[in-house]
Formats: sequence, structure tokens, C-alpha cells
Amino acid sequence: MDIRFEEASVVYGGRVALQPLTLVLSERRIGVIGLNGSGKTTFARLVNGLVKPTSGAVTVGGLDTRADTAAVLSRVGFIFQNPQHQIIMPIVAEDIAFGLSNHGLAKDEIARRSEAVLDRFGIAALARRRVHELSGGETQLVAIASVVVTGPDVLILDEPTNQLDLKNRHRVEAAIAGLDQQAIVVSHDLALLDGFDRVLLFDDGRLVADGAPAPVIARYRALAAC
Ligand SMILES: Nc1ncnc2c1ncn2[C@@H]1O[C@H](COP(=O)(O)OP(=O)(O)OP(=O)(O)O)[C@@H](O)[C@H]1O
Ligand SMILES: [Mg+2]
Repeated sequence: MDIRFEEASVVYGGRVALQPLTLVLSERRIGVIGLNGSGKTTFARLVNGLVKPTSGAVTVGGLDTRADTAAVLSRVGFIFQNPQHQIIMPIVAEDIAFGLSNHGLAKDEIARRSEAVLDRFGIAALARRRVHELSGGETQLVAIASVVVTGPDVLILDEPTNQLDLKNRHRVEAAIAGLDQQAIVVSHDLALLDGFDRVLLFDDGRLVADGAPAPVIARYRALAAC
């Protein structure tokens, strides 16, 4: 699916968070890197319309994030930098089912799809657990599953391996690698971006490098060393 930025900028209270940006994203795996506060989350939120461009436009598969907000939200799933913020129901299975509850599905179909997604991410054993008692890695996998189950075309993951130990990091990496959807992954975990099709580097609200992972990551290392 083509995600188009046309001179899209974001200004928060007079401060520029994203300079006018024009680009088309159509690759399957896209990484986004940069220092803290460089505009990565702002960029990611523009794609699903959580943030609207102050000027210019962003479209996803031809849908404008400003004019077609609801349609864009259903096509673009977003997994937040802090996944606790998106979990709504107290029990894991209930939270997964909640995402499907407004899709007009029969109860047994909701149960079938929920079970299938829990199996797929290797977290079937967590189904009856209380969400707020889960570890960070478990919470991250539940958050991914609860978005994937709704069937978006594009997934955005904002720092999905932040604060995870090596084992959970590998589980989340494997979950991302196995996604059928186009995925945009914001990450400080540079190893996660190995094999990605394209990586974008932001610095102070500006896209400063865009290409294959190795040269863009090298540029980031040089920038961080300054
Ligand atoms: N809702 C907001 N209101 C005002 N300023 C904001 C808002 N959201 C972000 N900003 C500012 O915009 C800039 C970019 O923030 P953004 O969250 O996009 O950075 P980031 O690259 O995701 O950083 P991090 O790596 O720390 O998550 C920062 O200076 C931030 O303080
Ligand atoms: Mg961020």
C-alpha cells in the first residue's frame, strides 16, 4: 500500500516537530530511527491520523488522514511506545476480543479469531491472565496481537522492543518478522532493522537519510557521536 506524504509538516504550539516532508512509502518493512525528540513518533502518528499535518497532506492507499480519518484508522494499526496505554480490558482474551467487538462478528467467530491470534504469537497460555500483571514482553505481544486481530493493512510499531530483555526482544522480533502486513517500525534497537527494506533517519524534525539499513544506520552513528 502506498503511504504518501505531500509537504506534510507538524507544528506544536509554534515549535516545528516535523519539517515539510514529501515521500512515498511502499516497502514491506520500513524502519524509523533518530535521537530522542527527533520527530519519529510524530512521523508515525501522521500515518494513521493520530496526528494531522499542520500543512500539507498524508494519504494511505489514497485515503486522506484528515478527510477519511475513520477509514485510515481501520486500515492502519498502531502499537504505542507504551503498550499499557492501549490495553482496555482486564483479561488478555477479553482485550483481544474487544478489538473485534465492533466488527459485527458472531461470538464464536470472535472466540475463534482470538484463539488463533494468541496461538500465532505463542501466547495462548496468557489468555486468562490479568493484563496488568503481565511482564513487559508479554504485554508487548498482547498489544501486537490485539491490533493484528482486527486485520489492518499496515502496522506501525513505536519502539516495540524498548525495555525488553534479550529473550522477549527475540520473541517480538520474530512476531514482527512473521507479520503479513506492511510494517513501519520506530526503534532504538538497531539490530531489529536488519534485513528491512528501507530505513529513515530523522534529526531535529528533518528527514536526513533514507535508504538501505547499513548506510542509514552508519549515518545515525556518526550523527550521535557529534
Ligand atoms: N503533543 C505534543 N505537544 C507538543 N510538543 C510535542 C508533542 N508531541 C511531541 N512534541 C515535541 O515534538 C518533538 C518530537 O517529538 P516525538 O515524540 O515525535 O520524538 P521522538 O523522535 O519519537 O522521540 P523519542 O525517541 O524520545 O520517542 C519533541 O520536541 C517533542 O517534545
Ligand atoms: Mg517516540
